Amino acid sequence: MPTKRLGILTGGGDCPGLNAVIRAVVRRAAASGNAEVVGLRLGWKGLLERLSVPLTLEAVRGILPRGGTILGTSRTNPSKMEDGLPRCAASFKELRLSALIAVGGEDTLGVAAKLHAQGLPVIGVPKTIDNDLNGTDQTFGFDTAVQIATDAIDRLHTTAESHERVMVVEIMGRHAGWLALHSGMAGGADAILIPEQPVDMDALAELVKKRYARGRRYAMIVAAEGAKLPEGEVKQEAVLDAFGHVRLGGLGERLAKEIERRTGCETRSVVLGHLQRGGTPTAFDRILATRFGVHACELALEGKSGVMVALRGTRIEPVPLQEAVATLRTVDPALYRLASIFFG
Ligand code: F6P
Repeated sequence: MPTKRLGILTGGGDCPGLNAVIRAVVRRAAASGNAEVVGLRLGWKGLLERLSVPLTLEAVRGILPRGGTILGTSRTNPSKMEDGLPRCAASFKELRLSALIAVGGEDTLGVAAKLHAQGLPVIGVPKTIDNDLNGTDQTFGFDTAVQIATDAIDRLHTTAESHERVMVVEIMGRHAGWLALHSGMAGGADAILIPEQPVDMDALAELVKKRYARGRRYAMIVAAEGAKLPEGEVKQEAVLDAFGHVRLGGLGERLAKEIERRTGCETRSVVLGHLQRGGTPTAFDRILATRFGVHACELALEGKSGVMVALRGTRIEPVPLQEAVATLRTVDPALYRLASIFFG
């Protein structure tokens, strides 16, 4: 009989590589000869409601290249419920967990940090296409999303050029512009708008006009959904989710109208949306997720708690969960300056 019983859950927005982490945890636990793994369905909801499923070797066979998460996910936030954290603690006991591996972004890991502070053994794994978690050089899911967005920008380039149009591509990224910046750089964008830099409409319209005047009669504008117009973020609805985030969307459309009005150039907008989170992970993300999963499992088996596995240079190292969730990792201004050399 295994003496350790590890729980694992995936929370927040899904991203490619989640199944690779689950598989790695199960395979490493099996290799120890002393541990079994149970999955908790639908993020923190699964811990609150004890929605557990046994994760055997058979259950994780073939999932490495599969997008999404076999455990499902949600944005349930126990720390916003009156009895949420004590209920999580009671579930820990009821499910006889020796440790819990929480795979998520700043929200999911914020709850993990709170549970650790209450004495529960929790290990974090950094996931998000936004790449905005502090403490790690990169999250898994980001590389795949950059590739998807870059492929889309490449395709949009040819049609923009054929029709002599300005194309505005709206990319995910609420508070950090990593995805827009990397895909915009890789796709040769003529301007990249990110939440960290207020949008200057005059400069943007001027850039388009000058480009057309030079004979380059099309333009590719890549905009993170959270980029701020002079009047602020463009929201889809005012309602906040359980973690206090607004639903953004509509910036691309708004920008396209404004660019067309100011420049007279025909402009279209495209929202890449959840396409950026779906489908099979890149080889890089499969490997990063696998390394994260193995290290998280080892830390859990060693009895460690309150840490997140992180990519530091080429190594995977534990960092305090508190450090990971203390602040968001936003775009390095030096990298943005470098990218802007290619604007226009
Ligand atoms: O946090 C990841 C993310 O993809 C953000 O980039 C985006 O704003 C948000 O999730 C979308 O959330 P939902 O899947 O709830 O629409």
